[in-house]
Amino acid sequence: MTMSVTIAISNHKGGVGKTTTVVNLAAGLAKLGRKVLAVDLDPQANLTFSFGVSKVEESIYDALKGKIETLPVLNIQENLYLVPSSLDLAGAEMELNAEAGREYILKEILDPIKDSYDYVLIDCPPSLGLLTINAFTAADEVIIPIQSHFLAIKGLTKILEVINKVRRRLNPNVQITGVIITLYDRRKILHRDIEDTIKTYFQDKVYHTKIRENISLAEAPAKGADIFSYSSGSKGAKDYYNLTLEFLARHEKDIEFDFEHND
Ligand SMILES: Nc1ncnc2c1ncn2[C@@H]1O[C@H](COP(=O)(O)OP(=O)(O)OP(=O)(O)O)[C@@H](O)[C@H]1O
Ligand SMILES: [Mg+2]
Repeated sequence: MTMSVTIAISNHKGGVGKTTTVVNLAAGLAKLGRKVLAVDLDPQANLTFSFGVSKVEESIYDALKGKIETLPVLNIQENLYLVPSSLDLAGAEMELNAEAGREYILKEILDPIKDSYDYVLIDCPPSLGLLTINAFTAADEVIIPIQSHFLAIKGLTKILEVINKVRRRLNPNVQITGVIITLYDRRKILHRDIEDTIKTYFQDKVYHTKIRENISLAEAPAKGADIFSYSSGSKGAKDYYNLTLEFLARHEKDIEFDFEHND
């Protein structure tokens, strides 16, 4: 068995498409035969709801607090598993603050199970607090979704600083491996300027695949469905399928991605 890869999907700016990306990248990878664990590390529990889970008995909060010994894992569809969140998690940041090794708690509970999966995707909350630091400490990689907006770059130095600190003090392996441009509308000339700016900062880390604004992507969570089940013919399904292929090309040597068809 190959080693699993753990990836934190993070941006402390809210509403940039983190959760949408975790749902649909996880579903895309699962459909292409990869075994995926999606971890909801956000007290808003949007990832949990987006997968159609509304009643949560045991959540990631119980595991972080040590109330249960192993992470609760729900099977969502073939190859796709979820660690659900709940509102309780909002208190975890404060409650775990006094614990020794508080930054390592998620790593400690993920380590025994992660190798049963090809990919572990962690949906981070829109903040750079202890939960996000736990995600960076447990992760091999960070992928940052960036909304195509003229203020998108503003404040990004904060997340880069935090990742650098985590590298120095907690997890020397973690690195930013991807930046995904989301909520893209190429009719707007401004978006192209923003894309250029993002590329000057992050160069080849920027995914060739951009996620366009698409109403189906906004509708699917209320149905508890990923975009491929909700609307397989939508632009959103096309973009996230391409993103999945590009992700695989970047992670698995024998996979190629045909850039020509990504339009
Ligand atoms: N490409 C898209 N086109 C249209 N709507 C989208 C797209 N991506 C995300 N959305 C919608 O935008 C909102 C924010 O997206 P999402 O929840 O994925 O962002 P987030 O970064 O996880 O937010 P938060 O910081 O609150 O966790 C949601 O209502 C989502 O359905
Ligand atoms: Mg979210």
